[in-house]
Amino acid sequence: MNIILLGPPGAGKGTQARRLVEERGMIQLSTGDMLREARTSGTEMGRKVADIMDRGELVTDEIVIGLIEEKLTGEQGGGFIFDGFPRTLGQADALGELLGRVGQSLDAVIEMQVDDEALVRRITGRFTCGGCGEVYHDETRRPAKDGVCDVCGSTDMKRRADDNEDSLRTRLLEYYKKTSPLIGYYYAKGQLETVDGLAEIDEVAAAIAAVLDAR
Ligand code: AP5
Ligand code: MG
Repeated sequence: MNIILLGPPGAGKGTQARRLVEERGMIQLSTGDMLREARTSGTEMGRKVADIMDRGELVTDEIVIGLIEEKLTGEQGGGFIFDGFPRTLGQADALGELLGRVGQSLDAVIEMQVDDEALVRRITGRFTCGGCGEVYHDETRRPAKDGVCDVCGSTDMKRRADDNEDSLRTRLLEYYKKTSPLIGYYYAKGQLETVDGLAEIDEVAAAIAAVLDAR
């Protein structure tokens, strides 16, 4: 089963994708994580996208489509979760074509609805484990022991350079201008499902599970 998690910055895409990996053996393909990895490892592409990402703008379709294309030909596990991809109509068309090429298709597009006020709180309170990528929040999801990851025990907690109010404003604008048209695009294709992203993390997970089990 292949799905897209669609929603603005802070909607909870990464949080829910990690649960699906654990519970269903699916493979998370987050273009944001791949781009951050390229920055850390200092590749030429990583250097090229750094400023764009920190400002909260989208990187080119060509770069992210290339990243996804590489992954689709590898291991397919329990299916793919596209997290933060596609983000433009061009990327959506390319994804359909790439999946067709490897004999796969899209089973559902899950839109995570949240309001913009909640996003500011979620983004400014977020931190992530540098060891395993587990996502936390200052108020809603603290590790059991302060500063220590529940999953891998690492004490290397990180905050993202683009998690500030200025970049968030740009990320939101980019979302409404370029990504939100995908809601209509996938609705017209009969693939759109909507969940309440404002609910508790477990409740959102249950709503997503219900969508997947019904397919
Ligand atoms: P990306 O990494 O994809 O960032 P994003 O879309 O802005 O989304 P986030 O990762 O910020 O949010 P999320 O929905 O994953 O929320 P999370 O689960 O962490 O992209 C970063 C940049 O890379 C882009 O700006 C762009 O430059 C570039 N890029 C990436 N993909 C691209 C593409 N396809 N095309 C072009 N450019 C691309 O949750 C957020 C916080 O809320 C956490 O603290 C979490 O603990 C908390 N939380 C989650 N769910 C709940 C809940 N239900 N209740 C309470 N708190 C919750
Ligand atoms: Mg994310």
